[in-house]
Amino acid sequence: MRKLSDISVKNKTVALRADLNVPVKEGIILDDARIEAVIPTVKYLLTQNCKIILISHFGRPKAGTFDSEASLQPIAIRIGEMLNHEVDFISAIEEVKFKSTISLLENTRFLIGELENNEELSKNLGSMAEVYVFDAFGTSHREQASTFGAIHQANVSCAGLLLEAEIEALTKATHSNDRPLLSIVGGSKVSTKLEVLKNLSQFSDHIITGGGITNTFLKAQGFNIGKSLHEESMLDEARQLLGKSSIHLPSKVVVAPSIDSLEHRICSIESVQDHEMILDQCIDSDSLELIANAKQIIWNGPIGVFEKDNFSEGTRDLAKAIAASSAFSLAGGGETLLAIKLFINKGDISYCSTGGGAFLEFMEGKELPSLTALGFIK
Ligand code: 3PG
Repeated sequence: MRKLSDISVKNKTVALRADLNVPVKEGIILDDARIEAVIPTVKYLLTQNCKIILISHFGRPKAGTFDSEASLQPIAIRIGEMLNHEVDFISAIEEVKFKSTISLLENTRFLIGELENNEELSKNLGSMAEVYVFDAFGTSHREQASTFGAIHQANVSCAGLLLEAEIEALTKATHSNDRPLLSIVGGSKVSTKLEVLKNLSQFSDHIITGGGITNTFLKAQGFNIGKSLHEESMLDEARQLLGKSSIHLPSKVVVAPSIDSLEHRICSIESVQDHEMILDQCIDSDSLELIANAKQIIWNGPIGVFEKDNFSEGTRDLAKAIAASSAFSLAGGGETLLAIKLFINKGDISYCSTGGGAFLEFMEGKELPSLTALGFIK
């Protein structure tokens, strides 16, 4: 993969494609991890006396129409605060002139042709500066004009420092010989997660499941899961996976008549009632032992409905056990990072990926177009 260290950027103009798609509610940035993650690349470029234009998408606005809620302007202010440096805001691509040292271009998804990877727009973005640095791991699975398209069209393009770190951590976790490797996959998007699990099962020594995946496996084994979330069409695949891999399912779960119910009870997996749903699972001593003995842990997805107090214990116990383990731990995905933020110190996880969908696709073993465009080969 072409890296920043392979090229000279001294005194050059640089377009830096970041993923500044951070969660915002009523104008307030809820989590600035993605902004923080790109700061080392910006600082490096400053030491090289570069003039930088940051580029990013934000949300999913309709192309061709301005929507103030999807404007990147508040993000420019936050980047300025983090860098202690003025950050100019450029509202239209035609206004890019590299007058200031650092500027941020308005949301690329306002541009017609961004989503379609339009060639003309890709050329405009890719030739905006002397060098196109791609540091948006979180959006590397998208084949769009400011990602794959601009990388192709730029005279010189390379990966930024964040992208390098992401690839290093993800490759270390999926290719290293440090054993045992434990994968933990939970969450509610059962079909996507089952694909992730299929790939991880090829090189994991043990697997712990959570959420809808656990329910699907329990049903595949013939247990009554009541009204629990699961994927009926994937029962056969679940059975096959159970036959092939070392999948650890819980022995006790937390059930309730509904997600909003105040009543709940802990029961064995044999005694879930027809009117109940599994909303959390108990992390048993076998799971704790697997976590404590692992040399590498890959974690994606919560164990239960952790946003609700009644159903948060499984995810909390799991997060604490991973934090206490001496394994190289890799965590990724929006909900996983939120659970880490709520229950433990982020610093106790060896690497937290900034990728959501991109992290999952990497874990599914898929090719990510923007990484391929940069010369990355798995
Ligand atoms: C993400 O949040 O996963 C990335 O920024 C990609 O966003 P998208 O799913 O809207 O393309």
